[in-house]
Amino acid sequence: MAPVEIVPGCLYWPGWLDRAGQEALAAELRTILAKAPLFVPRMPRTGKPFSVRISSCGPLGWVSDIAGYRYQATHPETGEAWPPLPPLLTRAWAELAGSPLEPEACLINWYAPDARMGLHQDRDEDEFSAPVLSLSLGDTAVFRIGGTARKDPTRSIRLASGDALLLSGPARLAFHGVDRIVPETSTLLKQPGRINLTLRRVRRAELGEIRP
Ligand code: SIN
Ligand code: FE2
Repeated sequence: MAPVEIVPGCLYWPGWLDRAGQEALAAELRTILAKAPLFVPRMPRTGKPFSVRISSCGPLGWVSDIAGYRYQATHPETGEAWPPLPPLLTRAWAELAGSPLEPEACLINWYAPDARMGLHQDRDEDEFSAPVLSLSLGDTAVFRIGGTARKDPTRSIRLASGDALLLSGPARLAFHGVDRIVPETSTLLKQPGRINLTLRRVRRAELGEIRP
């Protein structure tokens, strides 16, 4: 399936996962979240809570608290290692990311119907040559994407259940966010809301790791 290029480097595959694929992924996530429960991230310095709740799977997970944003190997509340990346996600990366590097973290964002995410860049990784791959499940999001400067013009697209989006190349450091969730747009999840997954490479490649 050929992607649509939304802005240079931002590739979009509407309906990349069919309903059966979405159900399989949602089932994997229920197992993952039973081991690594969603928690409320907080803004660095102020401690203001985010409106999304988050968790992760993979060798590393992204956390944010009063001390700052970072990746770490353990869940901040359970102290346990994050659950491994399910094969469905490593396959999605192999198929869509176009990177010889393996993904190391999958951030799981849970949007209740009133949650949103302000414009930001994904820049807590040490490696920007690999893209960020996003998969959406559940209710549709109004997703906004601009350029690499906060003041650059933005455009918005609707990310529906099963859609895949890649921030690569010139869009890897593009500002992006979620304006709102569109209610009652999917029957996939057991409750109203949306799950977004973003797969990321965090560390620089090690010698010998890059395989074409
Ligand atoms: C994110 O930027 O981490 C999430 C994007 C989205 O929810 O689509
Ligand atoms: Fe992001």
